[in-house]
Amino acid sequence: MQFDATGKIALDQIYTQRDPRAYFSTLRELDYRIPQLAKPYFLKFIQEYREASGVSAPTVVDVGCSYGVNAALLRCDATIDELYERYCGVDARAPNRRELLTRDRNWVRSRGQLKNVRFIGLDNSAPALSYALAAGFLDDAVHADLEQHDPTDQQREQFAAADLVISTGCIGYVGERTITKIASASKKPWMAHFVLRMFPFEPIAHRLAELGYETVPVTGVFKQRRFASAQEQSLVLDTLSTAGVDPRGLEADGWLYAQLHISQPR
Ligand SMILES: C[S@@+](CC[C@H](N)C(=O)[O-])C[C@H]1O[C@@H](n2cnc3c(N)ncnc32)[C@H](O)[C@@H]1O
Repeated sequence: MQFDATGKIALDQIYTQRDPRAYFSTLRELDYRIPQLAKPYFLKFIQEYREASGVSAPTVVDVGCSYGVNAALLRCDATIDELYERYCGVDARAPNRRELLTRDRNWVRSRGQLKNVRFIGLDNSAPALSYALAAGFLDDAVHADLEQHDPTDQQREQFAAADLVISTGCIGYVGERTITKIASASKKPWMAHFVLRMFPFEPIAHRLAELGYETVPVTGVFKQRRFASAQEQSLVLDTLSTAGVDPRGLEADGWLYAQLHISQPR
């Protein structure tokens, strides 16, 4: 088992497969569930945006969208357990990528209920974005690593359409550089980020404040996933301690926890 600099297990290889089976089978083992817990908050956030702005068909940018996980849950009114079954169940073993995609496109057609929301996914994994677009989970995709590079003119245009920006499981891989580049290229979209407690949100909130945002943490914590091993837990507890976060009753008991941060223009 390999670990990244923050102490979490390295999962890079499951982010870049041609289809989502390795992604879901690995994360199912870890009881990964943050997209499911985030779903009602995102739905409420989109509805509040509609009411406040009068925009009936908003565009949502999902940062670190992977195989379009949040878009699939929201668009198809699905649960993460359904996604686990779709990609890890017995029916998912035989099909090739093309057959999986045909199955997914039919699913989106039959289940796609959230029709008046446009989803743009941002990720640095081209294979994940390609799958999510072909399946119909995403309407558009931005393949970029904004930690390393500035957005191109075309990517800026894509971000300019954003009304809302959401993320689960991505802050930590990306930080204030990515978030401020998106905010600067767009018309101050509302933001909702579910962020592991081991990653302080203050640097992002600070940069967003300079751009005219106010950030409020939502009360409560959300189970993200189980630790993969005692060693991962120990390394993450070290990172939490360095960040001054008390893990008692939470990470100390075997799960990684996230907090929701809402950032809106003042
Ligand atoms: C844990 S996954 C979360 C995926 C999805 N949001 C979910 O909750 O299921 C993290 C995602 O961040 C992406 N990622 C990592 N570094 C990135 C970067 N520098 N820019 C954009 N995406 C990145 C990975 O490719 C991966 O898809």
